[in-house]
Amino acid sequence: MKIERLDTALGARISAVNLSVPDGLDQAGLRSAWLDHGVLLFHGQNLSPTALVQFSALFGDLEPPPASETGTRDELAGQPVWYISNVVENGKAIGSLGAGEAEWHTDMSYLPEPPTASILFAQEVPHTGGNTSFADMEAAWAAIPDDLCQAIAGRTIHHDSSTTSVGETRRGYDGVSDVREAPGASHPAIRTHPETGRPSLYLGRRRNAWIEGMDLAESEALLDRLWEHCRRPEFAWTHVWQAGDVVMWDNRRLIHRRDPFEASSRRIMLRTQVAGDRPF
Ligand code: SIN
Repeated sequence: MKIERLDTALGARISAVNLSVPDGLDQAGLRSAWLDHGVLLFHGQNLSPTALVQFSALFGDLEPPPASETGTRDELAGQPVWYISNVVENGKAIGSLGAGEAEWHTDMSYLPEPPTASILFAQEVPHTGGNTSFADMEAAWAAIPDDLCQAIAGRTIHHDSSTTSVGETRRGYDGVSDVREAPGASHPAIRTHPETGRPSLYLGRRRNAWIEGMDLAESEALLDRLWEHCRRPEFAWTHVWQAGDVVMWDNRRLIHRRDPFEASSRRIMLRTQVAGDRPF
């Protein structure tokens, strides 16, 4: 296995590995590279849904698909793997998130115990667009201006579960009219990584967030300033996908977003998530 740091804010490329043969992998080396670099990129992989599940399970128990998943393909039935895709078959989307922009977010931070790792395998990608960016919230916390640090230290953020990162209301939920009453979970705004001990900002996503106990207008203004800081390009890396890429990121430390792409092109990603723990 070869580990090369990417020439950017975060991430490493791992080569000379075949993820479809989990027994042959250096599990400890992979875990340590993932913790060091935040996001790992593997090119040229060929994984069935079952093989992706087996690889992902090296990192812990897997989450079942979120309730909002509407997948139609039988090969995934009963497995902890689903599609992120805009492809429609027999009049129904095979996966979620369509072709629109997905805003910066942490996966499923609206759960009491959000996932530790998220893994995407690119089966089909469009010629342009659909790039995924990752930003390091440890670096964002380390570089936070003093006044923002004082304003957010010790605070808790409420994370809304009703709305996806592309702004759709999930099945079974109503729209949010007052963010203070949104369904979801609350977590410390600055969390400590349970494996490395390092602190990071933990904002979840901007939409429908609320800094608990704060007046609404004050919370909105502070969240806007925090997000402006987190979106600074020096914390981020953008991945331009090729079919066969696997990307695995530390969902406790990073946020990510996706560019929109042409709705008439096809993008099919297989997705797994490793079950998590309560942020502290
Ligand atoms: C996501 O936002 O979780 C999906 C990212 C992607 O489609 O690249």
